[in-house]
Amino acid sequence: MAKAQSRYVCQSCGAVVLRWEGQCRTCGEWNTLVETVVREEPRARLAATAPTAGAEPVSLSHAADDTAALRRPVGIGELDRVLGGGLVAGSVVLLGGEPGIGKSTLLLQVAAGIAGAGGDVLYATGEESGGQVRLRAARLGLASGPVGDAVRVVPETGVGRITDLARTSRPALLVVDSVQTVASEELDGPPGSVGQVREATLRLMELAKSDSIPVVLVGHVTKDGTLAGPKTLEHLVDVVLAIEGDRTGGLRLLRAAKNRYGSTEEVGVFEMGERGLVEVADPARAFLAEHDRPAPGSVVAPVLEGSRPLLVEVQALVAPSAAPAPRRTASGVDPNRLALLVAVLGRRAGIGLGSHDVYANLAGGLSVTEPGLDLPLALALASSLRDRPLVPGTVAIGEVGLLGELRPVGGLERRLREAARLGFERAVIPRSRGREPGSVPGIELVEVGSLSDAVRVALLDAPVAAGLRP
Ligand code: TYD
Ligand code: MG
Repeated sequence: MAKAQSRYVCQSCGAVVLRWEGQCRTCGEWNTLVETVVREEPRARLAATAPTAGAEPVSLSHAADDTAALRRPVGIGELDRVLGGGLVAGSVVLLGGEPGIGKSTLLLQVAAGIAGAGGDVLYATGEESGGQVRLRAARLGLASGPVGDAVRVVPETGVGRITDLARTSRPALLVVDSVQTVASEELDGPPGSVGQVREATLRLMELAKSDSIPVVLVGHVTKDGTLAGPKTLEHLVDVVLAIEGDRTGGLRLLRAAKNRYGSTEEVGVFEMGERGLVEVADPARAFLAEHDRPAPGSVVAPVLEGSRPLLVEVQALVAPSAAPAPRRTASGVDPNRLALLVAVLGRRAGIGLGSHDVYANLAGGLSVTEPGLDLPLALALASSLRDRPLVPGTVAIGEVGLLGELRPVGGLERRLREAARLGFERAVIPRSRGREPGSVPGIELVEVGSLSDAVRVALLDAPVAAGLRP
């Protein structure tokens, strides 16, 4: 057993230093260093987490392990898609999301899926009592029959006991809900501290690799979207999944932020309902809001989430500000892009928002970072300021440069086909230089070179008050 020593661990980035300091030198956060008794990571531990300790070198041409054979589908199509075909034996998956977003619900459904295919599941819960988990399972209709028998729930927070239980019962899946509630008996420091969370994860990885048991860890994320405290976990585990969405709305998006066994390009779309998370039949239209009549400040954008085109509604509201420093509020869109577009609109398109409060968000609680969202966002701002909706049936996509010029985005045809399929008739897109304008059946392409041209062609001529009110 290694010596226990006192160290100071940054609760933000996991850096370890010998002496207390006010600011972490690694990540620059203040007052995040907490005294922790850490064991030096024993060498054996490191070796054990490698798939094969003390192995001989094998050439690349040697037949690889057949990961397809080691994959076990969880029986939820959208999740299997994000995982790249299923859970890989011996892999460790971290599922992150805000409290109440549906992590425990999803994992209970995963457990039931595995159980339904004949595997046993061990569900260790430190967040809720065993009774609460069973109650939820009953509500979801998963508590009875062979599935109910095959999923065993244990309210346990000691990582040593959890790994012991898993080693003796050898389940097809171990769920630990959540990693912030488990702790190692051999470490001081409260559960949830970086030292504990790291240690627990290492111990569970050791179990996963040595016994080929897939382990799914739940991790809570903080408001700014990072996994609380232990950023370091993301490097340790094999797969990092994130659920996002608007807790008050029903839609949930599942993404892989990291996947050692597949692409991080796939997203899954679910809806939270009475019977838990249900896969959405037509994800492309799921995030569109319904309006009775064209709404100023609303622009539909065909974005690409990985390889999947989704139509999202960008909403903006601008209103004269009473404050000396007007508000800029963004939700689901990058606040820096919003600030930049406000500046570009003012200087390059004659749409001054300097004395206006500006609010921007995406309908459905989605969050999108792709640059193609620039043009729809800028059009939404212009549309709100002028109180004119877009020409009905229009979508827009494109990146905006500092000079107010528009730049093309990748995967344009795929996006536009999807928009056409959902009944949109017109797309405002950046002009493609040196190329023949493409064509997509069913949708008219309006190619423009600058943001000011885009505003001109996209907005309806007459203000709403004049023409559109019934
Ligand atoms: P939960 O899985 O407990 O979230 P997390 O583990 O991420 O904290 O889900 C919590 C929310 O989901 C809760 O507010 C109730 C809601 N919910 C439903 O709407 N339908 C359901 O069938 C279930 C089980 C939960
Ligand atoms: Mg939970």
